[in-house]
Amino acid sequence: MIGHELIVWNDELVTGVDKIDEQHRILVNSINDANARLSANSSAEILEQISRDLLSYALYHFETEEELMQEFNYAGSNADESEAHLRQHREFSSKVVAVRDGIKAGNLISREELLTFLNGWLINHILKTDKRLGAFIVAKSHAG
Ligand SMILES: [Fe+2]
Repeated sequence: MIGHELIVWNDELVTGVDKIDEQHRILVNSINDANARLSANSSAEILEQISRDLLSYALYHFETEEELMQEFNYAGSNADESEAHLRQHREFSSKVVAVRDGIKAGNLISREELLTFLNGWLINHILKTDKRLGAFIVAKSHAG
């Protein structure tokens, strides 16, 4: 399913933390929308707009997750995991910034390449890293 296909939301993507899941659904929808709006040779303008919108929502979403990490002292219990999680957020942001800089400089990324990157990153990150964070928060919330 990873590639330029639409992402179909399914239970495997649920982290168990409502706030996170809600934002993940929005991210999945935005990527699917981008998929529908992009054509094989989209203009720089469209690519620019899509990458800007995605980046701003992704940054907002990362902030939400990182606030939750703070609130539940993720770093205190899982230092390595917390660090790796933050690193993945930074890497994603800088990759999108690099793509945007490229577009501005006239190096258009192909639709295929952009969607493969976005879908792959999102699914991979949610299925692994975010689910571990979700399980941690759910366990901590239940422990009171
Ligand atoms: Fe995350």
